[in-house]
Amino acid sequence: MKKYQIAVLAGDYIGPEIMSAGLRVLKAVSEDSDFEYELRKLLFGGAAIDEVGEPLPQNTLTTCKNSDAILLAAIGGPKWDHALKRPEEGLLAIRKELGLFSNIRPTKIDRSMISYSPIEVTDSVDFVIVRELTSGIYFGKPSELTENDAFDTMRYSAREIRRAAKIAFEMAMKRKKHVTLVDKANVLSTSKLWRRVVKEVANHYPEVTYDTSYVDSAAMKIISTPEQFDVLLTENLFGDILSDEAAQITGSLGTIPSMSIGSSGPALYEPIHGSAPDIAGKEIADPISMIKSIAMMLDNSFDREDLAQEIYSSIYQSINEKNVTPDLGGDRSTTEVTDAIIKNIKESREQYVKNNV
Ligand code: NAD
Ligand code: IPM
Ligand code: MN
Repeated sequence: MKKYQIAVLAGDYIGPEIMSAGLRVLKAVSEDSDFEYELRKLLFGGAAIDEVGEPLPQNTLTTCKNSDAILLAAIGGPKWDHALKRPEEGLLAIRKELGLFSNIRPTKIDRSMISYSPIEVTDSVDFVIVRELTSGIYFGKPSELTENDAFDTMRYSAREIRRAAKIAFEMAMKRKKHVTLVDKANVLSTSKLWRRVVKEVANHYPEVTYDTSYVDSAAMKIISTPEQFDVLLTENLFGDILSDEAAQITGSLGTIPSMSIGSSGPALYEPIHGSAPDIAGKEIADPISMIKSIAMMLDNSFDREDLAQEIYSSIYQSINEKNVTPDLGGDRSTTEVTDAIIKNIKESREQYVKNNV
């Protein structure tokens, strides 16, 4: 049996808290299964700046490249706001270096979560945002900041758009077969190119219905009628903003995982939120985003949908039992929520064994 190598980047502030919660769940779900793995804990983000002066040390990058999957918790925070280098530079660099051009951010409202939403929703809310991750205004050159002037460049090539679009249409084929391109084609040249290229890709997927929405209007529909979406395809900056907004309708940003993929090499799994400096060290960070990121890894990198499903149902069961952190209105600690999820995994396994002897 292959022993998978998993790179572990815990990062800053709540990063290490939720990473250790996630790794406890990974250990629990792997016990008595034939899934074997080894963890490679690596310096990254602010923690790496403090140790070696770089947010993405060479050894971290090389080890990530040679691993079967990468787990990342969160980086950044006020400690490095005025430092020579920022932790965020490491995050952008690892995405670019590993060619992780597509970032999948799911918004799914399980039945157990309906009452946590700030808006009226049903469990038919189930969409993913496919966010282009290695181009656009985050990476476009030139970009400059002087005393009285600053500019950034939003730039896309047809190739970059095409490969992200293909991921979106392939995802849609396995889901509700609908893609919505979110852009600002009434203003931006890059968006006009997105429209042309994505339409060409759409022509190769006759089973998938395809429409477009301006980003301002899409932001409104995510709140008013989220049930209409299946796959939202969009560029880097719009995807960043819309995914935090979409997270909110599930009740908390602290519950949303993500997966970043390229055309080859290991995928990277991380919560969509940041290092939450305001709650770090208080033992109240919601670990669900990290635990779900681990479930996504088991399913997508290791073909272990069975283990992923065990994790998802144990999470939803613990939400049902009101074992939730303050972001979801509860009073449980990070550890208590993690304990509850692990207990549910163990109990449902025991039940399964009882039912099958
Ligand atoms: P944030 O996502 O860290 O926090 C926003 C709000 O959500 C805060 O009130 C926080 O307490 C809450 N929150 C986030 N995750 C939570 C969790 N798991 N449980 C409970 N509450 C949670 O955004 P921010 O405060 O704007 O950024 C803080 C730092 O994180 C910045 O340096 C930013 O650049 C960085 N950041 C990193 C990543 C990443 O590592 N991928 C993503 C976003 C932001
Ligand atoms: C995210 C974050 C990052 C981004 C920042 C920290 C660079 O907000 O992963 O969503 O904008 O991509
Ligand atoms: Mn973000």
